[in-house]
Amino acid sequence: MTTLKFPENFLWGGAIAANQAEGAYLEDGKGLTVVDLLPTGEKRFDIMRGYISSLTPLPEEFYPAHEAIDFYHRYAEDIALFAEMGFKALRVSISWARIFPTGEDAVPNEAGLAFYDRLFDELLNHNIQPVVTLAHFDVPVHLIEKYGSWRHRKLVGLFEMYARTVLERYRNKVKYWMTFNEINMLLHLPFLGAGLVFQEGDNVKQIQYQAAHHQLVASALAVKACHELIPDAQIGCMLAAGSFYPYTCNPEDVYQGMEKDRESYFFIDVQSRGEYPGYARRFFRDHQLDIVMEPEDAQILKNNTVDYIGFSYYSSRTTSTDPEVIKNMTSGNVFGSVANPYLQASEWGWTIDPKGFRITANQLHDRYQKPLFVVENGLGAADEPAADGTIQDDYRIDYLQRHLAEMREAIEDGVDIIGYTSWGPIDIVSASSGEMRKRYGYIYTDRDNEGNGSLERSRKKSFDWYKQVIASNGADL
Ligand code: BG6
Repeated sequence: MTTLKFPENFLWGGAIAANQAEGAYLEDGKGLTVVDLLPTGEKRFDIMRGYISSLTPLPEEFYPAHEAIDFYHRYAEDIALFAEMGFKALRVSISWARIFPTGEDAVPNEAGLAFYDRLFDELLNHNIQPVVTLAHFDVPVHLIEKYGSWRHRKLVGLFEMYARTVLERYRNKVKYWMTFNEINMLLHLPFLGAGLVFQEGDNVKQIQYQAAHHQLVASALAVKACHELIPDAQIGCMLAAGSFYPYTCNPEDVYQGMEKDRESYFFIDVQSRGEYPGYARRFFRDHQLDIVMEPEDAQILKNNTVDYIGFSYYSSRTTSTDPEVIKNMTSGNVFGSVANPYLQASEWGWTIDPKGFRITANQLHDRYQKPLFVVENGLGAADEPAADGTIQDDYRIDYLQRHLAEMREAIEDGVDIIGYTSWGPIDIVSASSGEMRKRYGYIYTDRDNEGNGSLERSRKKSFDWYKQVIASNGADL
């Protein structure tokens, strides 16, 4: 048996996002952004779906993003720990509202720009490549108030201005870019994904797909700007991936599985192939959606396709047309999956399926024939420090080990994967639940769901394990 290998120069690392790590939510001129309006508790889910009563934070609520894990001030300490693990890459996002606090300011906010200069310099000093997402669940609140966010065409030009500003500024520092994080999230959690707010009587689908069109054009314009300004950089899209399995071989289930996958592929088909697929046009007709497109849009999309496909993979999904089967939906999955009887789930109801990772990677490769970048994967779990304060997170090691083994198989299958940045290498705020208790890190952050704790960082058992994975370029899993 041959030893399966990872490619030379494989980009091992981790991924975080401004909105879940930085905190300092009003510091140095930053404006409010969507996550600054997401409290913990039961309301959070409704707000993420677009039903929000106030576009200013309420004094009686707790907003975990306001302080998050204070990465804004502690980034140097955190990067030193990432360097100790041997990271080659760190995926971060730039907060749009740090650069343009209202989204339409006449000049960018220098203090915000200077922060990311310091951050990228610190990474480069440790030989860690910054991998930068332009928009990770992030729209300045002023643009929601004034334009209704991405439902308005105006956002396209404002996003392009923001993208050009940061691409230009960091052209010598950042060579890997991504446009919209999990762009397909717009269909599931539209406020989180795109700042969309709905009123009673709104045609939600119409608004979502119009907003999607605007994001797709904005994404293409960011690709264009990146290619013009930084010819030696690569810019990708980013999909919340995880293939749908039909629950049975009943053709109705199989067809539905294909349709469910297309709901997500729709975005990437446009970003990677440069045009709307036939099935999307049919979907618009069947649902009587009238998507306004400007005459120049088709060319913009066609001429500015992405260089690579970034994706997150946490779970596969399962679908059925049988009313009895769909009574048994998984609890934690925003993508609407029925429980798969062959698979276990995490405490938050996310199905665990390492083989599905290999399947998903192969399907993306077969469909797009472009390099793939795994920019999120991991297990959200509650860690309990032992009496001596250590965290023995063998369950996390087990999850990651089994997923990395399948990723290695996918590479052996011929899938071109350029890197792997696991989600939350340091514990950060959970996007879906707002909790700190749902942890992904190799590094423990002392903070709880209510905002108590010293914010001190400490190494978990998985820290040394991942360090060895990277040191051996994946030979020792
Ligand atoms: C992805 C997001 O959906 O999954 C991240 O891009 C998010 O922002 C991650 O944190 C894990 O989800 P959660 O809800 O467990 O934080």
